[in-house]
Amino acid sequence: MDLWYTVIFTVFPYVCLTTFVVGHAYRYVTDRFGWNARSSEFLEKKRLFAGSVLFHAGIILTVFGHAGGLLIPQRVFDLFSIDAQGHMTLAYWSGLAVGIAAFAGVLLLAWRRLSVARLKAVTTRNDLVTLAGLVAVIGVGLYNVVFGHFNVLYSVAPWIRGIVTFTPDAGLMRDVPLSYQIHVVSAWALLGFSPFSRLVHIWSAPLFYLLRPPIVFRRRARQF
Ligand code: HEM
Repeated sequence: MDLWYTVIFTVFPYVCLTTFVVGHAYRYVTDRFGWNARSSEFLEKKRLFAGSVLFHAGIILTVFGHAGGLLIPQRVFDLFSIDAQGHMTLAYWSGLAVGIAAFAGVLLLAWRRLSVARLKAVTTRNDLVTLAGLVAVIGVGLYNVVFGHFNVLYSVAPWIRGIVTFTPDAGLMRDVPLSYQIHVVSAWALLGFSPFSRLVHIWSAPLFYLLRPPIVFRRRARQF
């Protein structure tokens, strides 16, 4: 039993992390022109706008929420007078809002791909695996928020900090409910798969666009 916990909650995360890092480097070197979100906006706009905005807003806030809530130890929250109970309440309401947005968004995106004929024609198996992975990870995560009510601050949170600081302790996941274990394992799997999918676009967010100098457009002077 202990061996299985070590394989699933120590070996597997590091295999996925290694695949994530090496896979991105490999993809960048071998497929630089394929490194993009492969926009399908020219094939269908309306459903894309609704699904994509909802999904991206939800998932980006979810990622920041996970990073802040799980990687920062509870003792730091205590310094700001946010006790464990307050932390969990904050996580519940914010997780519910962004989780519903991300889940509704990804369902819309999946439905769009399967219901518009010309989109279906250009949708690859890789796209379907990516969307199915996102539906599973976000769906189980949302299920945990709504029905789980498990305190992750002294189990999942120190476990994940142990992984990123190279001091893993699989034993911390022993008393964690199955639905939470499925959520973290499927999230690691998606992370390991992401370098081989269109998810690489996450690392090419056009942030410099916001800082670039404005382009001045002028009317062409009238010719006399
Ligand atoms: C870092 C900020 C991000 C930016 C700027 C961004 C931008 C984009 C753009 C421009 C598209 C193409 C939409 C179109 O078809 O025209 C797209 C699609 C997509 N993005 Fe992102 N994205 C970001 C983060 C993420 C994250 C964190 C995820 C998931 C973990 C994600 C998952 C997806 C998926 C699955 C699609 C394909 C949707 C479909 O066509 O079915 N994105 N993104």
